[in-house]
Amino acid sequence: MELAVSVSGLRKDFGAVKAVRGVDLEVQTGEVLALLGPNGAGKTTIVEILEGYQTASAGKIAVLGHDPRHDRRRMLERVGIVLQETAVEQFLTVREVLRRRASYYPHPRDPDAVIDLVGLGEKSGARVRTLSGGLQRRLDLGLALIGDPELLFLDEPTTGFDPNARREAWDIVRSLTGEGRTVLLTTHYMDEAQVLADRVAVIAKGVIVASGTPDSIGGRDTGTAKVRFVLPEQAASTAELGLADTHLSVSPIDGRRMIEVDTDSPTPLLHRLTSWAVAHDIELEGLEVARPSLEDVYLSLTAEDKA
Ligand SMILES: Nc1ncnc2c1ncn2[C@@H]1O[C@H](COP(=O)(O)OP(=O)(O)OP(=O)(O)O)[C@@H](O)[C@H]1O
Ligand SMILES: [Mg+2]
Repeated sequence: MELAVSVSGLRKDFGAVKAVRGVDLEVQTGEVLALLGPNGAGKTTIVEILEGYQTASAGKIAVLGHDPRHDRRRMLERVGIVLQETAVEQFLTVREVLRRRASYYPHPRDPDAVIDLVGLGEKSGARVRTLSGGLQRRLDLGLALIGDPELLFLDEPTTGFDPNARREAWDIVRSLTGEGRTVLLTTHYMDEAQVLADRVAVIAKGVIVASGTPDSIGGRDTGTAKVRFVLPEQAASTAELGLADTHLSVSPIDGRRMIEVDTDSPTPLLHRLTSWAVAHDIELEGLEVARPSLEDVYLSLTAEDKA
């Protein structure tokens, strides 16, 4: 598959600050890649280098086959950008801003269709400075889409969105990738990464510390699992359930005992537990097997880096 973005050995120094310290990154055509990382990790710096706003200190970069610094004009015809900081002409109306921006592109989308797409229909005649923060952010997304781009760079695109607007934005992004477009986004919202991204890369202090699918990154799918259930009244002890030699915690909830077991091999444990329950014709209340959430994995990856 063709690469939409290819980066190797990327470095960026701001004087003594080493903002990006050797990043290799590939984004396949048609893929959504989410960059996750704490404040100051280097996400915006990487994205702005790819957009040609900043010059790398070192490294090889290709964006849709272009060098973003030397071939910027041709690259920008094929790319849509939402910057972390909104930068739109404040005294123009929503429609004016989108029409003006559309005129920069060879094959733009219809501005009125984009206005509807990002949910600004009622505000098309309003001046930008009168829009609320979340509505300005919708306009930013509209501006990124107006050139009908093959590749979108979205730096915290849904910050300030209400929950409905966020879901609408996710639908928009998904519909684009359904058409084979590519998205590189940054976000602090784990649910956004979980829902939207085909792959996530966690970056801390200028280095990628892990990457993978949202479901498997950091060993989410194979690491320690938690098995929970309410201890049935019929069981005299947890040993009777075949849990004698496991690490478990018991917490009283509502007069009942909630059992929580951490295990690296949930399958045999569940087999013992459910065999006992089936033999005694008991439905195990609250039975649940939980893997670490994306947020759990993210927090441990970025905490290790701080240590
Ligand atoms: N123009 C600049 N001059 C000096 N230092 C900078 C500049 N831009 C960024 N930095 C520094 O580079 C590092 C990475 O910043 P960057 O904006 O890329 O982080 P980020 O991951 O996008 O963070 P956030 O989640 O807060 O947006 C930080 O230490 C930041 O202070
Ligand atoms: Mg940033």
